[in-house]
Amino acid sequence: MKDLIEDLFENEVHIESNFLIVKESGSSVNQTQTNGIFSEKWLKYDDEVDNPQYHKFQEDWYLKLYGFDTKEHLASFLQTKKVILDAGCGLGHKTAWFAKMAPNSIVIGMDFSEAAFRAANRFKNIPNLFFIKGDISQTELKNNSIDYISCDQVIHHTDDPIKTFEHLSNISKSEFSCYVYAKKALPRELVDEYFREYSKKLTKDELWEMSDGLTKLGKALTELNTKFVAPDIPILGIKGGEYDIQRFIYWNFLKCFYNPDLEYGDSLCINFDWYAPSNAFRYSEKEFRKMISDNNLDIIYFHQEEACYSGRFIKRS
Ligand SMILES: C[S@@+](CC[C@H](N)C(=O)[O-])C[C@H]1O[C@@H](n2cnc3c(N)ncnc32)[C@H](O)[C@@H]1O
Repeated sequence: MKDLIEDLFENEVHIESNFLIVKESGSSVNQTQTNGIFSEKWLKYDDEVDNPQYHKFQEDWYLKLYGFDTKEHLASFLQTKKVILDAGCGLGHKTAWFAKMAPNSIVIGMDFSEAAFRAANRFKNIPNLFFIKGDISQTELKNNSIDYISCDQVIHHTDDPIKTFEHLSNISKSEFSCYVYAKKALPRELVDEYFREYSKKLTKDELWEMSDGLTKLGKALTELNTKFVAPDIPILGIKGGEYDIQRFIYWNFLKCFYNPDLEYGDSLCINFDWYAPSNAFRYSEKEFRKMISDNNLDIIYFHQEEACYSGRFIKRS
């Protein structure tokens, strides 16, 4: 297995237990800030929340985002892939899920935050699973080396998602799944942009305090349990129809996430990871489809929902 792993990389790689060490490139101010925010979020999440229900919710959502009917469908798909990369793996729960479903594949999780160390430490007993702390926009992996790349809820946090998408397409040998944040209604986009600039000046404690306020607001609005019919306002990108009041404010004006089926801490971390990172780009469907076709990928499955566009693509031969 060691030789196979070494052969995937352009340059020398040191393997220490389940941790791969490659030369780490420097990063911009925005990427460094984004990495710091995710280190903060993941370590707090791991220490204080770590809700199994949240991981299950993420697994079920993964199937829907990338076109797998069932977990068994995903497992049989992964078992046909020799090398799998979870690009931007966070605490590595999905990476470990993949590795358990495909025990004969080499599964590598890469993340630029401190979460990569936590992941390696937590999952050191899965023999086909490895982690790297590194930048998914410059992985040091060879072109056409990875049989399946999963880049779930990550690429929009890199400095230049179009370049990152191109890099991941280049190192991909066949299939590549990716998710981007969707552009929202104009008032929400304006507030988001303003907040992201503003929050660069805030301390981590202030960012948690703001996220706590947003979560409490989301909870209070959810508990109103009030529905109403909103008019269509196409110029502002506001879609008419029946809405719960919390969802209406959430989609169109301010991210005040709250999900009563999860722990309060899950919702808190979700709000934190929206306004705190400097890098959080959003795309239209047309822009995402252009990224896919510009990189000579064919669409196997395409999915869209209010929050995102996602899909599974294959390299044109
Ligand atoms: C919203 S989390 C998603 C984590 C995981 N894929 C999941 O679905 O649970 C985004 C992750 O992207 C990572 N990230 C952001 N920019 C990155 C980069 N340039 N290289 C590697 N990881 C990056 C962050 O550290 C964070 O863990």
